[in-house]
Amino acid sequence: MKKYVINGQKKLSGTVAVSGAKNVALKVIIAACLTDEPVTIENIPLISDVFVMLELIKEIGGTYKIEDHTVTIHVPEIKNTEISLESGAKTKTSSMFLAPLLARAKKAKIPNPGGCRIGARPIDRHIEGLEKMGATIGYHSEDGYFNASTEGLKGVEYTFDKNTHTGTETLIIAASTATGTTIIKNAAEESEIDDLIAFLNSMGAKINRSGYREITIDGVEKLHGTTYSIMSDSNEVVTWAILAALSGGEIKITKVNPEPIKIFLEKFKEAGGNWEANADEYRLYVSDIKALSIQTGIYPGFMTDWQGPWALFETQGRGVSVIHETIYENRFGYVSELKKMGAKIKFFTPEVDNPSEFYNFNIENGKSPENQAIEISGPTTLHDAIVKVTDLRAGATLVLAALIAKGKTIIYGVEQIERGYEDFAGRLAMLGADIEVIEEA
Ligand code: EPZ
Repeated sequence: MKKYVINGQKKLSGTVAVSGAKNVALKVIIAACLTDEPVTIENIPLISDVFVMLELIKEIGGTYKIEDHTVTIHVPEIKNTEISLESGAKTKTSSMFLAPLLARAKKAKIPNPGGCRIGARPIDRHIEGLEKMGATIGYHSEDGYFNASTEGLKGVEYTFDKNTHTGTETLIIAASTATGTTIIKNAAEESEIDDLIAFLNSMGAKINRSGYREITIDGVEKLHGTTYSIMSDSNEVVTWAILAALSGGEIKITKVNPEPIKIFLEKFKEAGGNWEANADEYRLYVSDIKALSIQTGIYPGFMTDWQGPWALFETQGRGVSVIHETIYENRFGYVSELKKMGAKIKFFTPEVDNPSEFYNFNIENGKSPENQAIEISGPTTLHDAIVKVTDLRAGATLVLAALIAKGKTIIYGVEQIERGYEDFAGRLAMLGADIEVIEEA
């Protein structure tokens, strides 16, 4: 187990560049398997989830090579259509290999990716969409695998019952070389999906956003290789933005695209924050933080990945604020840990008329799940503690908390953070943080 030891309240300043987007990198690696030609992807973040996906490329019979932040992937033929339980357990996104394996090899065996720490995270919506495209997919609980096969994927008009970011991406990848036209309705709107669409179109796919929450894909016979540079990670921008604001406003963030984080910037300003922007370089600062409640939502709402850092921000806000999480049923893993550091936060269960419609996750019994919201009272001075990371964004939240807290905080389980933030400790040290990385036996 790896841990960070952080002595807080050091003066932080300097410039940090945002990495390529994790939630694009993982998907373009999968989509690259659709062609038998080499594919080069630039601005790849060197994070552990990317290496897990690249190892899966080898598992199915491909090769890859990395130079700096550029990866070249080549899958001349699919030699193996089974994703191992071990790889599948490392990152839920591995389940998306269903799409290229069905498209190119007409069969796939993948482990059930559910059981993530931020909720059940099933892939029932992905499965239903692929079945409508002509896949036969059975789930064998005795071995925990989905077994899928098809005579050939066909274009279909399909409407998702509920929004799904990766479900939309799975169907886009599957439909790119399917026979005929696919129209996805109630499709997700995240910017990362637009980057995946642009990547696939650079390979010869014919995909466009044909209407509000509607994507049309005209299947093509074959895709060719490409060289493509992916977008910056907007979830990482928000992490750095909150740190900059809470640490005196002397940190500059470069490679920022403000479009995907528009609502974050609106809420930040409403809470008393402000920024200077010079091209893609942003310096965010705040003097007096107002208590401002937020409710997460599907894009272009306030993203669930931003609510952890926002909760920390509001522990320094004047008054009482609420965060209501509507995307995942267990996304407050950082709360117990922040309370160890002195934060005043309590859970509560908001009144919701129709929970099954209101929440983005599946609800079996029609009842509102407990503790989907937290109430934060501030401002509170945070102090050191020994804390544990439950998931990627919760981990980032705890690191930011340790950086502004008094004393020496020890954070266990930081491997979770390294799944999504390249060289997090190294970049923080460059900004002046007193942070030590210790590998425990
Ligand atoms: C993607 O997760 C991102 N992950 C998440 O980022 C992000 O928070 C989320 O989209 C919202 O933008 C990747 O892109 C790899 P969903 P995903 O499908 O695909 C439920 C991070 O830290 N659902 O829109 O899980 C699901 O459990 C990660 O970078 C089903 O029940 O988002 C969730 O509660 C965290 N069945 C909700 O819907 C399905 O078939 C939204 O899921 C699909 C989803």
